[in-house]
Amino acid sequence: MSKATLAVIAAASAATGAGITALLYSSKPRPPQQQQQQQLPSPPTGGVKVPVPAGTPTSTLAAKVAVAAAGPVDPSGIFQYGFPGPVADELSSLPVTGAFDRRTRNPAWVAEHITPQSLAIKNADRRHSSFVEDEALPPKFRAKLADYFRSGYDRGHQVPAADAKWSQAAMDDTFALSNMCPQVGEGFNRDYWAHFEEFCRNLTRQYSSVRIVTGPLYLPRRDPDGKWRVNYEVIGNPPNVAVPTHFYKVIYAEDGSESPDSKVALGAFVLPNARIPNEKRLSDFEVPLEAVERASGLEFANTLDPSRRRRLCQDVRCEIVVREFNNAKKAVS
Ligand SMILES: *[C@@H]1O[C@H](CO)[C@@H](O)[C@H](O)[C@H]1NC(C)=O
Repeated sequence: MSKATLAVIAAASAATGAGITALLYSSKPRPPQQQQQQQLPSPPTGGVKVPVPAGTPTSTLAAKVAVAAAGPVDPSGIFQYGFPGPVADELSSLPVTGAFDRRTRNPAWVAEHITPQSLAIKNADRRHSSFVEDEALPPKFRAKLADYFRSGYDRGHQVPAADAKWSQAAMDDTFALSNMCPQVGEGFNRDYWAHFEEFCRNLTRQYSSVRIVTGPLYLPRRDPDGKWRVNYEVIGNPPNVAVPTHFYKVIYAEDGSESPDSKVALGAFVLPNARIPNEKRLSDFEVPLEAVERASGLEFANTLDPSRRRRLCQDVRCEIVVREFNNAKKAVS
């Protein structure tokens, strides 16, 4: 891949009439020395004061030097009033680990883990689960049930309920609205996206351990004037929950060995939040992992050595086989 390649995601054209074109920038992976993780500093408990002694005559050379060294102002004094953020609320329940995005009221990402064993246990029924607001989040940042009501969008699971059949409590946890995003129902959440989730479950036939990170994207599209703009609906009254333009999944298919050089087959996909015909090839939605990283502002495999990486779609056929006879009982969320 050449530096600063523009990868135009084919996803876009998949959506009949949606006209969404996702422009993602790809470039060479950065050299390792640049990949050190940068953590947001935790908010200081008190203000960091850089005082200029009162009454110091600023005309003296000494005072001028002191002011130059410390600076005449104290921007971090803002912390005396609190740390504005951004705060990414941790999502942590039996089947879900992730981070919540307070601005959009959607998760930023959610991670799950499925294995042949976990999927074999069938102890739960989604008819016994109900959608709930996530009370662990501050009320003003939560997605509300009322936001989705008559919005025209499904409450679309990010970690699918069907991946948490191993316990009713676990399945119930997937019904928290912090695990949802507004998704187009017909043709997407209840169809192509659901098939994609089944594709992920099917991977456990070949891999003893599969991790999946799922989340929303808000991508620009090109307007007739040639400029790129982000345009998304916000549902609720007052408007509260952002409707993502796209969704991504990053799939880590592990060989399950304990060896430090065990291989991980990585796949990254971006799908438009729109009706997608079943005939559309899943491989058309495959993107370089870095494209998801640039689009989401997240990083997914910094500590996975390149020598351990495989490309999922080289290991397995990235295709969705839809059993039409099964469509009648497709899950509606
Ligand atoms: C998952 O595997 C089953 C059994 O082979 C197959 O019938 C089904 O079509 C597969 N699902 C998808 C979405 O490809």
